[in-house]
Amino acid sequence: MSLDLIDLHPAQADLQSLVQKGLHQRPRQLPAWLLYDPEGSKLFAQICEQPEYSLTRTELGLLQHHAEQIASAVGSGVIVEFGIGNARKVDPLLVAIRPSTFVALDISRCALEQSLTHLGQQHPTINMLGICCDHSNLRDLPEHAWLNGQRRIGFFPGSSLGNFLPDDAVQVLRCFRLLLNGGPLLLGLDQPRDPAQLEAAYCDAAGVSAAFARNLLHRLNRDLHGDFQPEQFDYRAVWQPQQQRIEMALVSRLDQIVQLAGHHWIFLAGEPLITEHSVKYSPQAAADLAAQAGWQIKHRWHDQEDTLSLHCLEPAD
Ligand code: AVJ
Repeated sequence: MSLDLIDLHPAQADLQSLVQKGLHQRPRQLPAWLLYDPEGSKLFAQICEQPEYSLTRTELGLLQHHAEQIASAVGSGVIVEFGIGNARKVDPLLVAIRPSTFVALDISRCALEQSLTHLGQQHPTINMLGICCDHSNLRDLPEHAWLNGQRRIGFFPGSSLGNFLPDDAVQVLRCFRLLLNGGPLLLGLDQPRDPAQLEAAYCDAAGVSAAFARNLLHRLNRDLHGDFQPEQFDYRAVWQPQQQRIEMALVSRLDQIVQLAGHHWIFLAGEPLITEHSVKYSPQAAADLAAQAGWQIKHRWHDQEDTLSLHCLEPAD
């Protein structure tokens, strides 16, 4: 089995200025990728197992069911996955496409190591290349012998694009188009549906979603010498119909002062710190978004209730 890892993770200094910028904003908001430290990645995997959160199961079902059709739609080449997650989703594609190399980009080095080791054992003939980075603004892949002369097939499942607000999502899709260098992109997007169902998916009864959000504060305490008391913040997830998105936030339970990154920060009672957005795209909204970023939708596969779609995008010329 061949496994290689390239580390381009942002430096600690970048982390500090990013967090300071987010805390100065009103409302306060931090980049969603900060949620994925080793503990956060574990908690996210648990979210995917919750009965209220059907996205992962539905998408995996679609990929398994349509793997052959998807393989013929995207053609051959190396597969480049943006955000590896728990690595289960790419498995049916590795079987159907049989690429020489699988490239995974993820902010969590630990998730990359675990996932690629596991995938390498299942697929010993496929080279496994991990790149630890913020994959949303990488313009090109680093040089590597495994990539020479290979066509690239992008894979961005899990509705992860939903974490970006629409203008940023367009930028991300443009970036992917450059990086994929003429190759197609397989994009999974979750669709709008019953608000009560969506709110439950993002605030499960077992409290895993809340723990996932509060873990961000634990992480900031550790990495930026903070003294957040995570229990002094309530978690909430609300459907915002105007923006067609779920907004997740930690809301201060009382007036409090928090030390972090050499500064003190005042949180008033009821003040939110937005941890992430999850934007949902109808098929029409997805087509508009793709067009704005210079892509066109060639195929769409969806589940029976039409709650989630996988799109095969090709560069619009
Ligand atoms: C990883 C962004 C796709 O928005 O559904 C799930 C993140 N956060 N529950 C989503 C998430 C809390 C997830 N994405």
